[in-house]
Amino acid sequence: MKARIDHRTKAIGVFDSGIGGLTVAKEIFRLLPNENVVYFGDTGRYPYGPRSPEIVRKFARQDVNFLLEHGVKFIVVACNTASSLALGYIQRIYNIPMLGVIEPGAKGAIEKSSTKRIGVIGTQGTIGSQAYEKALRALNGTLRIYSRACPLFVALAEEGYIDRPATNLIAEDYLVDLKQKKIDTLILGCTHYPLLKQPIAKIMGNSVQLIDSAEETAKATRQALVALNLLNPSITVGKREFFVSDSPEKFKRISQLFLGKRIGKVGLVDINSY
Ligand code: DGL
Repeated sequence: MKARIDHRTKAIGVFDSGIGGLTVAKEIFRLLPNENVVYFGDTGRYPYGPRSPEIVRKFARQDVNFLLEHGVKFIVVACNTASSLALGYIQRIYNIPMLGVIEPGAKGAIEKSSTKRIGVIGTQGTIGSQAYEKALRALNGTLRIYSRACPLFVALAEEGYIDRPATNLIAEDYLVDLKQKKIDTLILGCTHYPLLKQPIAKIMGNSVQLIDSAEETAKATRQALVALNLLNPSITVGKREFFVSDSPEKFKRISQLFLGKRIGKVGLVDINSY
């Protein structure tokens, strides 16, 4: 007799345009330590932020194909740009449960905001798609929403430019308008922005709460796995595998900034063949 496969023990697939999705993976490791995780970072075609919706959809499809080859049970789109532009598209194509970062971030913001004046920052792709606005409005039609693309934050985070005068100057320039809008909640709608919480908080002040969509997404992943009866029953720490489409060594080096520790082995993938 053939042994029955326990789908609960399969891995969670996580993908991003590159390294930023590690902020989401980090929260998943923290909240769901016993889950096996396969992470794919599309470093060879990074960044997704300035690209057209058609290209981001094509890339997302290939990223999913790669993860499916690893027999994953659930997919987390750990990239705000791909979640904004491609989640609906890949959800229609594949018959596997998936989650993006937008809805969890939007829910978290509404729960925490008391004035219902909410700000959103992200890449050009995310802000241009108005994905957060749509998700927020679908949950509450009376919100005041103010958005701003902050593309330079991505490079600053990757350079480890956290507490630098240049970062403070750029952050001030990007955020001054949002500050005047008297928002009480700001969604960090890009995988890299949790690294810049400190300078962002310094400019926005104590009255503005920052919503980390990485944290919210990890919580939503746990909820979804519980609801689908897919939570791994194992009591040991899960296996974590990492793959990229270019420069595994660079990924390993920068992973320290995003995960707080270095990754051992990183596999190289020819993503264009998927
Ligand atoms: N991961 C992307 C996001 O969250 C940021 C980097 C990029 O532009 O690809 O939107």
